[in-house]
Amino acid sequence: MRGQFGEHFKLSIFGESHGPAIGMVIDGIPAGTVIDEEAIARDMARRAPGNDPTATTRKEADRVKIVSGLFEGRATGTPLCGMIENTNTRSGDYAQLRTRMRPGHADYAGFIKYGGYNDPRGGGHFSARLTAPLVFAGSIARQILAAKGIEIAAHIAAIGDVADTPFDPVNVDAAALRALRERRFTLIDPAKEAPMRACVDEARMAMDSVGGMVECAAVGVPAGVGSPFFGSVESVVSSLLFSIPAVKAVEFGDGMALPRMRGSQSNDAMAFEDGRVRTLTNHNGGVTGGITNGMPVILRAALKPTPSIAREQRTVNLETGEDTTLSITGRHDPCVVPRAVVVVESALAIALCDLMMDDRAARL
Ligand SMILES: Cc1cc2nc3c(=O)[nH]c(=O)nc-3n(C[C@H](O)[C@H](O)[C@H](O)COP(=O)(O)O)c2cc1C
Repeated sequence: MRGQFGEHFKLSIFGESHGPAIGMVIDGIPAGTVIDEEAIARDMARRAPGNDPTATTRKEADRVKIVSGLFEGRATGTPLCGMIENTNTRSGDYAQLRTRMRPGHADYAGFIKYGGYNDPRGGGHFSARLTAPLVFAGSIARQILAAKGIEIAAHIAAIGDVADTPFDPVNVDAAALRALRERRFTLIDPAKEAPMRACVDEARMAMDSVGGMVECAAVGVPAGVGSPFFGSVESVVSSLLFSIPAVKAVEFGDGMALPRMRGSQSNDAMAFEDGRVRTLTNHNGGVTGGITNGMPVILRAALKPTPSIAREQRTVNLETGEDTTLSITGRHDPCVVPRAVVVVESALAIALCDLMMDDRAARL
């Protein structure tokens, strides 16, 4: 089990969906860092279930209880542990899933890896409930970065075939990102909310689910963050993004579109602006050579449709050794994308914090 991340901003995640609690221990927060618990609560609320028709009806307050490493509003410098209670579990919904494996979910792979000793209730440690501690740690990372003038926000770039307006990769500004984080259904173009909701509804009525894309931007990141070879910004950020359940592809800048361009199109021409080097385009998403170049960092994460669907599917029964069918009746998100927005932001915040605490960059 690899439940740790980071070299400087070190995380250790724990818990299962239907156990008593989930949480995170963070080591490496500089002593004296102001921790705003209200800001943490706001970020947690953006991910919490039960608040929107596109999400599961499981209601959880997702209040974080900080049990160590915080004194009088500041980090003590010792490990900071945040716990989130699981209060609304209905493990009976999952009884059939002990033996009948959900297609597209982690049930079979997890059963094989842990010899059947893993907790299957609500997906256990594979549940997206474990993204709550990630948001907690991300909120603290975000506060450390904000003190250095770095802002991060994401939006629902697409649900099914309905796309939002993308970020302008050259001119994202901090105030716009802060405003975006205030929106409940996080879109740049609010007119896309109705068609996106209709797309999710249509899938749910058909006993199915839909996927989509989250686009995330960070501004104010200084040039020079990231250490090639293995500490490249893309490597470190994407390793966290791929830890988010349901993320199946990640791209930086124009990513998957770059192979269809010519070098003359994909190169970002450079110029001085007020004595500062800028690029006139940002096809590379603010990262070249694995190192930030001072332009906004722009990435996209693709999330697959929710695997747990009501529609009957073929699967296997590991107890009887027979082929069987399964239709899933528990509480599930018909689309995971709206709740994943703050999770993607958190992954980028944590990775940037870890990279910027690197001794050689010595920026935090
Ligand atoms: C915010 C969020 C919510 C999710 N909610 C559900 C859910 O309600 N039901 C479900 O089956 N999968 C849900 N998932 C996805 C699964 O946890 C994930 O697909 C599964 O663990 C298999 O991992 P993989 O898709 O990365 O291969 C969610 C993912 C995220 C990011």
